[in-house]
Amino acid sequence: MYNLQSEDGLLRREWLRMTVGGFGSLLLILAQMNAQSRDITFESFVSDLTEDAERLFRRKIGEESYVTRVANLIRRIEPGLLRSRDPLIQYKRFSIMELSLTAGRGFRYHDHRDYNSVTMVLSGQIRIKNFEIIDTGVIESNRELRIRQTRTEDLQSRQISTLTTGRDNIHDIRALGSTRLLDIATRIGPNARSVYLDVDESPIDKNSRVFRAAFRPE
Ligand SMILES: [Fe+2]
Repeated sequence: MYNLQSEDGLLRREWLRMTVGGFGSLLLILAQMNAQSRDITFESFVSDLTEDAERLFRRKIGEESYVTRVANLIRRIEPGLLRSRDPLIQYKRFSIMELSLTAGRGFRYHDHRDYNSVTMVLSGQIRIKNFEIIDTGVIESNRELRIRQTRTEDLQSRQISTLTTGRDNIHDIRALGSTRLLDIATRIGPNARSVYLDVDESPIDKNSRVFRAAFRPE
């Protein structure tokens, strides 16, 4: 979720630019904590992800394969290891962000341009409504377009939602209670960003689950 701000006020533009020393310290702490890990370390997770994200960027692997790989990897990180690091770490091709949401708050409708997203619930519960664009090619601000709801997911602890630039690219995220999330956003092009949309409350046609929408000015 590049360049977005959650309704709880977490700034997403404020990327933490880790220094080499800072990153080294982080890895050391995580390596020490990992002595008790039963599964993969955060360090090995980042290492694997770095390699895969580079292959994705160079189109050596597809996005679906990539997000599936990410989902399988983050399930294997011991939850305790995720709480001791900074809430937002940016790497060359991807970012890792941990955030907290209070009940009813979240991220309203937005798209994912030039990047895909893998979101895992660490604790609590969220509802994610996913959409796809019907009127392709219409991306200007304030232009009306139609979007189709593809699925709605209620996710609990350790459950994961994925989207790509070609599937479920628009979503609305809403916390159903006090919730903590982990989000992996991976760039596949130079202009990774999100744009908010206004979406009608009711569908045009209830059976087709099609809604009128419009991108907000950036
Ligand atoms: Fe998102």
